[in-house]
Amino acid sequence: MDNRKSIEEVRADFPSLKRLRKGKPPIYLDNACTTLAPGQVIESIREYYTEYPSCSGTRSRHWFAQEVSERIEGNTRKGLKGSRQIIAEFINAGSEKEIIFTLNTTHAINTVALGFPFQPGDVVLLTDKEHNSNLVPWLKLQKTGRIKVDFTAPNDQDSFDLDAFERKVKTNRVKLVSMAYTSNVTGYTIPAKEIIKIAHQYGALVLLDGAQAVPHQTVDVQNLDVDFLTFSLHKMCGPRGVGVLYGKKEFLGQNPHEEDEAEHVIAPAILGGGTVADSTYHSYTLMLPPDRFEAGVQNYPAQIAAGVAIQYLQQIGMDRIRDHETSLNHFLTKELIHRYGDTGWFRIIGPQAASQRGGILTFEVKRPNAVGIAVELSEKNNVMIRDSVFCVHSYFNKMFGPEWTRPISHSDHRMVYRVSWYFYNTIEECQAFLETLDDVFKERGYI
Ligand code: ALA
Repeated sequence: MDNRKSIEEVRADFPSLKRLRKGKPPIYLDNACTTLAPGQVIESIREYYTEYPSCSGTRSRHWFAQEVSERIEGNTRKGLKGSRQIIAEFINAGSEKEIIFTLNTTHAINTVALGFPFQPGDVVLLTDKEHNSNLVPWLKLQKTGRIKVDFTAPNDQDSFDLDAFERKVKTNRVKLVSMAYTSNVTGYTIPAKEIIKIAHQYGALVLLDGAQAVPHQTVDVQNLDVDFLTFSLHKMCGPRGVGVLYGKKEFLGQNPHEEDEAEHVIAPAILGGGTVADSTYHSYTLMLPPDRFEAGVQNYPAQIAAGVAIQYLQQIGMDRIRDHETSLNHFLTKELIHRYGDTGWFRIIGPQAASQRGGILTFEVKRPNAVGIAVELSEKNNVMIRDSVFCVHSYFNKMFGPEWTRPISHSDHRMVYRVSWYFYNTIEECQAFLETLDDVFKERGYI
């Protein structure tokens, strides 16, 4: 037995779970989009604004600024750990200097896309299921002629095909492999360690978009040997508007001038206050990383709360989070397949085995008027899930054809729905989702 909090105690930490609408509590199953925030995180934000609402000690030298800095950068003399170090330890980075605060995952990926010194002809290799945040920045670079974007295809089970991947890396001039560690559509986690090993063998670097992975499993950047990792705190019980770019030290720079850096170093794309050590009317010198990548006054309360959120997750335990999510996925998958599996109009997207889909279950409904089910679930029983394409338009356009959202006839309707949970969700909530979905299907005459 351990002395960790029970699920009831955990749920009591989340004020939003105490809300009632029409006398009923929320059933929040949209965690792949944004997770709920526990009181501890909310309190840290309140504390910033009420106790020390100033900039940090990198700008000003006063009392409030020192208090802000202590919470972000720590204070060894006082034995205080700052959120940058908490994050570094959470992903086992070699140093907190490898942790760059960004706005979110999108911003972190763009930081690499805009800053990496690609040479014309370099290839950036993606999967077929990338979020727009890990597709469009590369397409934009391709338009300028700086890179070529290529894709590696999945195998028949919609899992990662390591052989096909190796062929791509071997026969193309792949400079960077940039992939979602866990897909926000299917919940499938790619074999990152093998991918990185193969990529490095052929001289390519690897960026993992960890937005759906870091909140749900232990991620060890040194063990993976990954070059860049990105994630967002709003998907891990943290504040909105703050994310992380982890980069190996050797790729973040060490010279005061970008032009003196080695050819694989990313240059800061956005410059201004906090990023430079000195400037004249004609020139400037850069701060060392991470500062050179954190331009302007930062979102200090969110950076502080990021550390609080991560400590909260550590208290719950990442292995426990993973196990809980997998067990709910087994339950939901079994029930949904049992109920609708042989109807011909209901289909789980991605690998069929629940064990391969973490805390995500996405399904397609191919029936007349298949839209609007998410709204009905919310209206009927406060069940919150997400519908549509989850910012992965490219994949659904490939699967369903480019005009699929504008079907010619009513009977050609199809819609995709995603249920995604976290450690605070219960089997009873999953049951309520199933029952409400069943009611909606009955009312629509689907069953
Ligand atoms: N990327 C987030 C999602 O999948 C917003 O919902």
